[in-house]
Amino acid sequence: MPRQGDGDTPVELRGVGVFGKHQAFVVKEANPLNGGAPAQRLVAGALTPVDHFFVRNHGSIPRIDAAAHRLSVTGMVQRPLTLSLPDLRRQFPTVTVEAVLECAGNRRSELMALRPVPGELPWDAEAVGNAEWTGVPLAAVLAAAGVVPGALHAAFNGGDEVTKDGRRFGFGGSIPLAKATAPEVLLAFDMNGEPLRLEHGAPLRVVVPGYIGARSVKWVDEIVVSDRPSENYFQTKAYKMFPPAVTAATVDWASGKMLGEIPVNAAIADPADHAVVPAGRCVVRGYALSGAAPIVTVEVSADGGRRWQPASLQPRSSPWAWCLWDAALDLAPGAYELTVRARDARGATQPDDMAEAWNFKGYLNNARHRVRITVQS
Ligand code: MTE
Repeated sequence: MPRQGDGDTPVELRGVGVFGKHQAFVVKEANPLNGGAPAQRLVAGALTPVDHFFVRNHGSIPRIDAAAHRLSVTGMVQRPLTLSLPDLRRQFPTVTVEAVLECAGNRRSELMALRPVPGELPWDAEAVGNAEWTGVPLAAVLAAAGVVPGALHAAFNGGDEVTKDGRRFGFGGSIPLAKATAPEVLLAFDMNGEPLRLEHGAPLRVVVPGYIGARSVKWVDEIVVSDRPSENYFQTKAYKMFPPAVTAATVDWASGKMLGEIPVNAAIADPADHAVVPAGRCVVRGYALSGAAPIVTVEVSADGGRRWQPASLQPRSSPWAWCLWDAALDLAPGAYELTVRARDARGATQPDDMAEAWNFKGYLNNARHRVRITVQS
């Protein structure tokens, strides 16, 4: 649990009473609701309690009557389906997958400190959480519908309503069929052993382990199998990566790369930035993750990246879970910049220079995370 910094948040921004969230939950935006608990609190255990789990919404939070809810599966399938929640539970196996969910905007505030990212939320390192998701494999539902040859993508539509540029539409997105038919992708109805809460997509959401959070569509009521990606705004414009030189004024939306798999990332959760800690043994803790392969090493530096010390990695029970780590440093009084870097089993690591990660939408900041602390005698 936090030892510094948590008392700094103005009380009026705390999420007391917001959907049963913990009082440490900070509302970054009230409407649509967006917020999370400080990263310091997230590394207390492998599973992120639901009352600490970040919430990322682009529109309304619909109250869907679970008894009336229907999921349609259409498009390039031999047998279009309309499934109630009892149908899903009866006709398909129920599985549980522990997986980390990371918003593409996680750690955007650091990019914003470099150059402005207008119109986007200034997430620190809290837009991430690790949960046990229970539901039915999407692959089984697609197999029942019978995907026809030539299909390449599965698109999801949610029951919420987004208002953008004077238009109203639902949130949606898609993933390649190769991922949609992988065993880890779920249509989930439980989170950490409890029925999914309203703000996390009740009664049914998609969970795409290893992909940016935006593809895990909440309140899902429609799956469309197609030979092309979703035409929803959140697939064709938002959640695309552009080089650092592109700005909102110069962007050619069609040229961006649709985001999918999350790159290797790591953050120092404790101590918090600007913390003051006593001299001597300082335990640094945080999380690391990669959508491509397990994290194999995490290293910490107390001198801005000249010398590195290996961190201990906590054992994980799922290849899709995040990796919590800690490292004990021995620090004399003074000012320090702590830095972390992680590597996954495919050898991928993180850029050193934040300028390389900068993009005008502020997505996928995986540059080495830096935290400034003061050590006092
Ligand atoms: N699904 C719908 N229908 N509407 C949304 O606004 N936000 C997406 C995704 N699914 C969103 C959605 C984004 S950007 C993220 S990061 C995750 O949900 C966040 O999930 P959570 O709020 O359960 O943490």
